Amino acid sequence: MSGLTNKRIVLGVSGSIAAYKAPDIVRRLQDLGADVRVIVTDGGREFVSERSLQTISKNKVHNNLWDKEAELSMGHIEIAKWADVVIIAPASANTIAKLCHGRADDLLSTVILATEAKIMIAPAMNQQMFAASAMKDNLGLLKARGIDIINPGFGDQACGDVGEGRLAEPIDIASQAAELFTSSLLSGKKVLITLGGTREAIDPVRFISNHSSGKMGMALAHACIQAGAKTTLIVGSISIELEKRAEIIQVISAEEMYQAVMKQIDNQDLFISCAAVADFRPKKVSKNKIKKDNQSMTIELIRNRDILASVCQLKKKPICIGFAAETENHIINANNKLIKKQCDAIILNDISQTEIGLNADENEVHLITKNRTEKIEKNTKQIVAEKIIDKLVNNFFNPS
Ligand code: PMT
Repeated sequence: MSGLTNKRIVLGVSGSIAAYKAPDIVRRLQDLGADVRVIVTDGGREFVSERSLQTISKNKVHNNLWDKEAELSMGHIEIAKWADVVIIAPASANTIAKLCHGRADDLLSTVILATEAKIMIAPAMNQQMFAASAMKDNLGLLKARGIDIINPGFGDQACGDVGEGRLAEPIDIASQAAELFTSSLLSGKKVLITLGGTREAIDPVRFISNHSSGKMGMALAHACIQAGAKTTLIVGSISIELEKRAEIIQVISAEEMYQAVMKQIDNQDLFISCAAVADFRPKKVSKNKIKKDNQSMTIELIRNRDILASVCQLKKKPICIGFAAETENHIINANNKLIKKQCDAIILNDISQTEIGLNADENEVHLITKNRTEKIEKNTKQIVAEKIIDKLVNNFFNPS
């Protein structure tokens, strides 16, 4: 099963006895890495407590379209825009009918109309209601509009009937959501990514490093894994969790990163050099902690090997993608790096702005190849990473 790492899911809980399973659905989605916000309808509140949903989702639960406080913090349009997927589970007969008619008389139906996100619904109701021809027509209409139906199960029902209409199992709802994000874009391909900063020792306690958090590289790792690639990460110093589905090799210095990359590079199809590698290291690393006896001190630095440029020189080399972290003359500097390092593409990011690039949650980049420059607009690093991978596949693996 592939993951929902960094995916934003709005779970709509409507009025069905199966709403008591909603906290379990939240859990299952979170287990796959999703951030979940819950909207519960008035009907849903009859069957599940907002407090349980809030505690488990770790987010405020939304209910009221007219809640002034909620509108100030996260109003219906914001929730609609925030979501990557909206899942209604359980979806009651009434909620399904409202979706068909485009009603907007409560928060959930309004968000459904306002969102561009993928919508999935998991119907849950009495077997006779599910078998009704109005319900069949309604589900057919929603399907035709591109809404995914997560089919209910067959079995004993809370009302004593036996038949089709039981809410699908929470784990199946979560895995169907995860399937939305898998693709075969990089299936059968091997990808090697460097990420994070390197640390260049001065003495046993001090080092020279930078502010790279590893977020951009990890987002690329998620995107590659979701696209079906066997992904290996050479990880320097980072401030985020490791991706469990990748092979991980942890390093400290630029030289260690160089060695690790060279050991792994054979048979890779794609190499993405996202790490912020120190260009220099202290010539001499003191064995003992340096004393602060003097008013000043000088550290002589020597050049580190350029990992990306070295990979680009290999006879049998993968497609090589570098990053350029620039504060000025962005496009010119990035183009110079493309030529100097002889890589296939450079991803330029502006690190002079605090809200994008280095150590930020968002990024805005240009993908620069010999022939063209394409801008990827500001978005979460995950979305930017997915767009980068799409473009790399189009440029280098499936050129039209
Ligand atoms: O980790 P985050 O906080 O999410 O931030 C992401 C990032 C800003 C660090 C990332 O998007 C980025 O731009 N990484 C490259 C930073 C950098 O070192 O840029 P550069 O212009 O100095 O280097 C150009 C390229 O050469 C990079 O691909 C770099 O990995 C590579 N390089 C540099 C020096 C060296 N000795 N060996 C290398 O391979």
